[in-house]
Amino acid sequence: MVDVTVHDSAEAAAIDVAESIRDHVASCVANATACRLGLATGGTPLPVYRHLIEMVTAGKMSFHDVVTFNLDEYIGLTSSHPHSYHAYMRSHLFDAVGLDASRTHLPLGSADDPDAEAARYESTLIASGGVTMQLLGIGRNGHIGFNEPGSEHDSVTRVVDLADSTIAANARYFDDPANVPRQAITMGIGTILRSHEIILMATGASKADAIRGAIRGPVEPSNPASSLQTHAHVRWVLDTEAASKL
Ligand code: F6R
Repeated sequence: MVDVTVHDSAEAAAIDVAESIRDHVASCVANATACRLGLATGGTPLPVYRHLIEMVTAGKMSFHDVVTFNLDEYIGLTSSHPHSYHAYMRSHLFDAVGLDASRTHLPLGSADDPDAEAARYESTLIASGGVTMQLLGIGRNGHIGFNEPGSEHDSVTRVVDLADSTIAANARYFDDPANVPRQAITMGIGTILRSHEIILMATGASKADAIRGAIRGPVEPSNPASSLQTHAHVRWVLDTEAASKL
């Protein structure tokens, strides 16, 4: 059975996701097991990160025992570049909750050999024991991470070309559209599916078609998020607009 929760607002969806992450971290601590969070960037998780910071500030949770692995990073941007996902994570979560670089992992987009860097990232992830809870957003074209349509469902961390629609969607963050990166290193779909638990969060009407395809559509490479139908522990946290075509 598909585990879908629909909230009246994006804010309520974000609180739900933040509370799930808080509870997951608490259960890792209670059971003395390692907690490895898989994290996403983009607009959707921003209110989640805001709520997590509030919980830490209020003393309701701690990231002391947490290790993180991000889904992806642009190729060609150094980790200090303001539009890198390294910088996004530092400014929207890591610095405020005391997660220092030794416990956070992102692919290095400025590596001399991006293919070798992708292989290193996949190996590091496997050696760690794997992601215990993965947070995902979804692209309008159904991408998860930067696994664009056509990505095999057993793909691993690798260098990918971004779809034109993804480059256009990301252009809002860059002063000059010519500076939007064309390639990224992303966890593969197979990498994502190894996570013990997955939460996919989607908000807004622009995600309604992608959500319908992911949950109701056939499981095939043309629709990367449909691969999640094959995973036993996926929770879909949506607002009414994203859920409007289910
Ligand atoms: C981000 C990522 C992407 C985004 C997706 C949705 O790390 O991997 O798959 O989750 O592009 O982006 P937003 O949330 O900006 O609509």
